[in-house]
Amino acid sequence: MDERMVSAESQFAEDALDFSLRPSDLSQYIGQEKVKENLRVFIEAAKMREEALDHVLLYGPPGLGKTTLSAIIANEMGVQMRTTSGPAIERPGDLAAILTALEPGDVLFIDEIHRLNRIVEEVLYPAMEDFCIDIVIGKGPTARSVRLDLPPFTLVGATTRAGLLSAPLRDRFGVLSRLEFYREEELALIVDRTAELLGVEIQGQATNEIARRSRGTPRIANRLLRRVRDFAQVQSDGIISEQLAVDALEKLQVDRLGLDHIDHKLLMGIIEKFRGGPVGLDTIAATIGEEAHTIEDVYEPYLLQIGFLQRTPRGRVVTADVYHHFNMEVPK
Ligand code: ADE
Repeated sequence: MDERMVSAESQFAEDALDFSLRPSDLSQYIGQEKVKENLRVFIEAAKMREEALDHVLLYGPPGLGKTTLSAIIANEMGVQMRTTSGPAIERPGDLAAILTALEPGDVLFIDEIHRLNRIVEEVLYPAMEDFCIDIVIGKGPTARSVRLDLPPFTLVGATTRAGLLSAPLRDRFGVLSRLEFYREEELALIVDRTAELLGVEIQGQATNEIARRSRGTPRIANRLLRRVRDFAQVQSDGIISEQLAVDALEKLQVDRLGLDHIDHKLLMGIIEKFRGGPVGLDTIAATIGEEAHTIEDVYEPYLLQIGFLQRTPRGRVVTADVYHHFNMEVPK
């Protein structure tokens, strides 16, 4: 099970609560400046032409705001957003039902779009390109194909793994936006914004402490803030001071770089069992009892980003920084 402060799926009750905290337009959205700057232009142009916005693919590690951005796109375009996900659409008929219910200009958000099956994907091609679908009515020799027109719509696809998308699907997106990990200053602004919305008082250094330990990820920052707030409420006067934040984060087993016990297990596993690597992903997964794809999607991106892990043709290798972080001697 995924025990950490981040998840590949948004099934937690708190994520529902999260929606009321999320920014609703581009001006409130902190960070991802390049993505925002471009989207602003594309949205304005589409509105001037009174057209649906071209299809958008948002990709990058979990928790960086793909769903939020999609909702913002719909809001800025003045249309509704319909939400589904790759694994939820099992048959072509499921997709046809969703597509035929769209209103002109609507945003259809498909999360985990890399998990669409091939048959469903093929229905999506003409839908994206020509706003129509071909459905087969009947069976056997009397079966016939009927073409249905769809209203113009915008598909917003989200994925943690753009590389897993088939080329024909990827090519049908007019806008490809890659979300990056957030800088600490941006996360601090997000923590302050959320604290204000939650009505909790937080001191500047406490904000920075949470931002520093959030692995570049707003979802983690907001979750840590809520947990720290719990400690402030139960064990103090409700105000989040620097000391309270540091103590709470210790108790949450989030270290000064934001690494939790699963990161530790992963890195120490490679050091202790494989002399620092190289070691293959499946071997690591089996050793620490996590799914290979979860390691790849959820745990690894940040470790690669901070230079703690390297991918080589022969497998994963930990860097000297990891030994320093754990106060260990770097092997020769
Ligand atoms: N809450 C979560 N992500 C955010 C972002 N990028 N900007 C503002 N608030 C957020």
